[in-house]
Amino acid sequence: MGATATLVLGLLAGGTGTSHAAASLPCDIYGAAGTPCVAAHSTTRALYASFNGPLYQLKRASDGAVTDVGTLTAGGYADAARQDSFCAGTTCVINVIYDQSPRHNHMPIEPAGTAGPANSGVPADALPVTAGGHQVYGASFSGRMGYRHTAASGVAVNGRPEGMYMVTSGTHVNGLCCFDYGNAEVRIADTGNGHMDAINFGTECWFPPCSGSGPWVQADLENGLFQSDSGYSKNPSNTGNSAPFVTALLKNNGQNYFAIKDGNAQSGRLTTQYAGPEPSRPGYSPMHQEGSIVLGTGGDNSNGSIGSFFEGVMTSGLPTDAADDAVQANVVSVGYGAPSPVAGGTLGAGSTMSLRATTPGYTDRYVRHQANSAVTSVVSSGSSALDKGDASWIVRRGLANASCVSFESRNYPGDFLRHYNYQLLRQPMDGTAVFRADATFCPRPARTARAPRSRPTTTPTGSSATTRTRSTSPPTEGPTPSTAPPHGPTT
Ligand code: AHR
Repeated sequence: MGATATLVLGLLAGGTGTSHAAASLPCDIYGAAGTPCVAAHSTTRALYASFNGPLYQLKRASDGAVTDVGTLTAGGYADAARQDSFCAGTTCVINVIYDQSPRHNHMPIEPAGTAGPANSGVPADALPVTAGGHQVYGASFSGRMGYRHTAASGVAVNGRPEGMYMVTSGTHVNGLCCFDYGNAEVRIADTGNGHMDAINFGTECWFPPCSGSGPWVQADLENGLFQSDSGYSKNPSNTGNSAPFVTALLKNNGQNYFAIKDGNAQSGRLTTQYAGPEPSRPGYSPMHQEGSIVLGTGGDNSNGSIGSFFEGVMTSGLPTDAADDAVQANVVSVGYGAPSPVAGGTLGAGSTMSLRATTPGYTDRYVRHQANSAVTSVVSSGSSALDKGDASWIVRRGLANASCVSFESRNYPGDFLRHYNYQLLRQPMDGTAVFRADATFCPRPARTARAPRSRPTTTPTGSSATTRTRSTSPPTEGPTPSTAPPHGPTT
């Protein structure tokens, strides 16, 4: 068996990766506009030109030790090499995301709430990207992952105005509640309408109809993900934003107005998707924010959602549109983009590929998931989009070994190919060391004469699988479908 692979930059490709930090960073911009940041969180960069403190804290699996990752320079990018050396040979989670603002609203891992059990920290190395030409890490959330700072300092309460944005990804989303960043309850519980004011990003259409299939930037104002004062979408052109890097913005004067904007974080300007009255249902006008900060879950810790987080801020006061525009320009200047290829191989993290069986006579079989199992099955360019998506995997840096790779499901973001009990399965990443190891596959030379030995080989638990790369939904071409019965699982 063997596997060939050729690097094709895929979903996360597109950034220049060479931009430089601007003199005025998002919190400088909002501060100068009279709406200072009361929270500034990022695992990738400083959000003030003068900031040179810690960005996030790592916790290491091998011995439980913790360390901070700061910036390379004041106002610069994360010192990812610090993470790589601290976590070498083991795994780390992000234990705390620090607040860069003078409010010190740091975000530890969120404990249990009324709607969900205690969360895990995100795997620290699951989302390598480039920013400002530097290799850094975003925060990749699977289910049951979240952060919370209860009773934060300076964050709006009881109808006070505020704004917020985050840079997230439109390629790692789902329709479960609730991938949020923003204002939430002090007690981790649903305390009623208007008690939250947070950006939500995902494909959950809480108030049908929605336009398109998302993911949408929405306002989680508690007991609803709002796209307008009526809840549902009044904007047929807002079909969602599935760009690899998305700027998601929400602002709310707390009394009678809120606005939702989104944009491509790699280029262009923000689009206002809604600006108008507060929801007409009882409890939202005025708002009743409680002033805590949530990241990755709903207010009551509904934590089935997945998502990505690179940076985000919250302001005191309603930001001006001019300040929002300047912040978007600064985000674009970062040049968020695909990571460099993984060490020791050409399987590019972020690329999308299919895994083709190389058993003689069965050249049209690909590893796909069906229910929660992974099987080989005939898939071709004529297959349905669902079948092709089920046979498509996004290459991620190896969850247990940075020199290897992991395969995230294209159709079930946050789920990975793993072996378990002598079978290949598709399962949600749970952050455990066992899962990480089971979901990590290391390139090695091909064994068969059919596959060139000079190319790297993945050996998913001894299976017969050849990887073929595509930059879009594979397989988009290939041999005529066979009528022969599919093989069983590839283990
Ligand atoms: O408003 C949507 C969600 O509903 C909130 O995030 C959560 O607290 C509640 O379940």
